[in-house]
Amino acid sequence: VAIQSDLDFRPNFHFTPDSGWMNDPNGMFYLDGTYHLFFQHNPDDNVWGPMHWGHATSTDLITWEEQPIALEPDEHGTIFSGSAVVDHNNTSGLGDGNTPPVIAIFTYHDAEAADAGEDDFQTQGIAYSLDKGQTWTKYEQNPVLPNPGIKDFRDPKVNWYEEDQKWVMALAVQDHISFYSSPNLLEWERESDFGQNMGAHGGVWECPDLFRMTVEETGEEKWVLLVSINPGGPNGGSATQYFVGDFNGTTFTPDESLNKIGEEHDYWIDFGKDNYAGVTWSNIPETDGRDIFIGWMSNWQYANEVPTEQWRSTMTVPRNLKLKTDGDSYKIYSSPVKELDKYIVNTIEKREMQVSEGTAITTDSINLAKAHLTFDITNLEDKTYEFALLNSVGDTLKFGYDHNDKQFYVNRKNSGLTGFSETFTEKKSTATRTSKSENLPVEIILDKTSIELFYDNGETVMTEIFFPRRPFETLKVVGDDSFIIENVKINQLTL
Ligand code: FRU
Repeated sequence: VAIQSDLDFRPNFHFTPDSGWMNDPNGMFYLDGTYHLFFQHNPDDNVWGPMHWGHATSTDLITWEEQPIALEPDEHGTIFSGSAVVDHNNTSGLGDGNTPPVIAIFTYHDAEAADAGEDDFQTQGIAYSLDKGQTWTKYEQNPVLPNPGIKDFRDPKVNWYEEDQKWVMALAVQDHISFYSSPNLLEWERESDFGQNMGAHGGVWECPDLFRMTVEETGEEKWVLLVSINPGGPNGGSATQYFVGDFNGTTFTPDESLNKIGEEHDYWIDFGKDNYAGVTWSNIPETDGRDIFIGWMSNWQYANEVPTEQWRSTMTVPRNLKLKTDGDSYKIYSSPVKELDKYIVNTIEKREMQVSEGTAITTDSINLAKAHLTFDITNLEDKTYEFALLNSVGDTLKFGYDHNDKQFYVNRKNSGLTGFSETFTEKKSTATRTSKSENLPVEIILDKTSIELFYDNGETVMTEIFFPRRPFETLKVVGDDSFIIENVKINQLTL
């Protein structure tokens, strides 16, 4: 079977750069109707290399327009991950009195110093924009936060801490997060460290995000700390864990129920192999109030080898995060942003479907490279609820839920092009179901090369990429067990 050309793998509605390499989302902020997305970018090659900040904008988080490169390497180094804030009060003094300055805070990576064996090759710098994020000027006195002699010292995520009228930065420092604060984004002081004895430590900690959330059921305020880790994810390679607790402007204290979390825990934003380095948008208006997250839909295990040429890597669909409690502990729930709904052109609904091996859930008329599906499996029994995406050349992407051992899984072993890296199909990915409900709501987002599975209203999420030799044509039940699915909605998206 002939291999699809590179262009055929370009997603319909997930962001990819026009050309070149992309990894982490960076510096996302919202201002005056526009969502900005920056990203780790090597414009000159399709593999990781000298990092720039690429840039894209959107008015609805779904349709993106790529913009000129925002930040280029300079004498301090290449531009690693970081964040951006709107400095409404001009605390930085970098504004011109017209519009509030937007400040990007990023890591400078001095590759020459690293090659020379020095330890202090990562520092934090800033750049400012006086035209709402379109063009950027580097601050003359960079770096604003020098390196104390630690190799991994990067990925500043900054937020305004209203109570103390100061900025707070979460910074990844090898195996922990350091919090810094500043009145003006220019001078930074270390406040505290967190995490050496908490959470998973199978790899280096990267790309933190610290933000406030309101607990759905109780209305109480909690702080959430996202920490990406590579390797050491629950299914190998890269993944993002989180902690829920309190923050007093100085220290982050995890909730008691989290004190026991060790190498293996349930606090992952996503259990699939392909959601890394995700963080949230800043400056979302209070009237909106959402915590909107986007992740890089790949994994360092094979990101440089996936079979695309002109461009490499995709972002996840933007997701709305919610914090919920069952009385014992807190969990983050994710779901695709509601803006996706406005792209629905056609919906097939079925109240109740009796399904068994071979039953097609979708018909040929549905383009599974732009689809959004929801259904419920009610009254769970000790069965395997197994589904697969299939095409005419035998490629199969299996996923499902085994209620016998409470495992969700994705198996891309025969999903098409897989030979580019052993780690791509080494084993199926699994996630233990944490919900105790007898009913399992399932939400699925499909694009040409990705599946995003939101189980139990987003309590457990699995995101994985794949490269079928022909587009997937049907979604079928493939396991031995028969069962009923209810409230089936197959939404065709126009994108
Ligand atoms: C995470 C990461 C960051 C770093 C960036 C470099 O994927 O390793 O820690 O800033 O990528 O591109």
